[in-house]
Amino acid sequence: MEIYIDTANIEHIEYAAKLGFVSGVTTNPSLLAKEDPKVDVKKRILEIHSLIGGHLSVEVNSTNCEGMLREAEEIVSWFPEATIKIPMIPEGLMAVYELAKKGIPSNVTLIFSTTQAIAANNAGASYVSLFMGRLDDISSNSSEVLQDICDIWDLHAYSSEIIAASIRHPLHIIEAAKAGAHIATVPYKVIMQSLKHPLTDAGIEAFSKDYEKMLAEKKKIINV
Ligand code: G3P
Repeated sequence: MEIYIDTANIEHIEYAAKLGFVSGVTTNPSLLAKEDPKVDVKKRILEIHSLIGGHLSVEVNSTNCEGMLREAEEIVSWFPEATIKIPMIPEGLMAVYELAKKGIPSNVTLIFSTTQAIAANNAGASYVSLFMGRLDDISSNSSEVLQDICDIWDLHAYSSEIIAASIRHPLHIIEAAKAGAHIATVPYKVIMQSLKHPLTDAGIEAFSKDYEKMLAEKKKIINV
């Protein structure tokens, strides 16, 4: 399962890119506004693109097909490998269908059910993004929905890739991997949480102390 970072924060993307296991970035209007409501979106997206080099999903803001297609054309003019994030509404599916005909990859976002995921796949989406955290927020079991989607994808050999999104904690990453999601897009904080283990920290502390002891002993021998 690939790991993407779900943010528009430049420092976080820069750091995540150096970690070597983060292969893409997903953004949305809320994430861009969180960084700076006055942000120059084109400039920020191109900056992110130059840092990550891999997958980059950029979301449209229109809610009608024509507007979404116009925005998609503009985003693709910024950098041709862009993946266009399209909301899971009927007009969005129409846009996905048109983008697929032009060979422009799309990532259908705000998916909360298996039927929405199937519709997005069949309309021609390259990626379908299931929002795990927001499902759990309303007491729906996001792991069960994701497992159903992954089973159906296997059964029918569907071509779109399943993204586990709205990841809130490291357990969501594990659940996504167990279900068979292709990608989990993870906020910076959760990426860092997922790398932490108290036994790793304790182990490093013990190794460092023993190394210092060895150095001190060597110094003693040299000074004798
Ligand atoms: O990937 C979707 C994500 O940005 C939404 O996350 O935590 O706002 O539900 P959240």
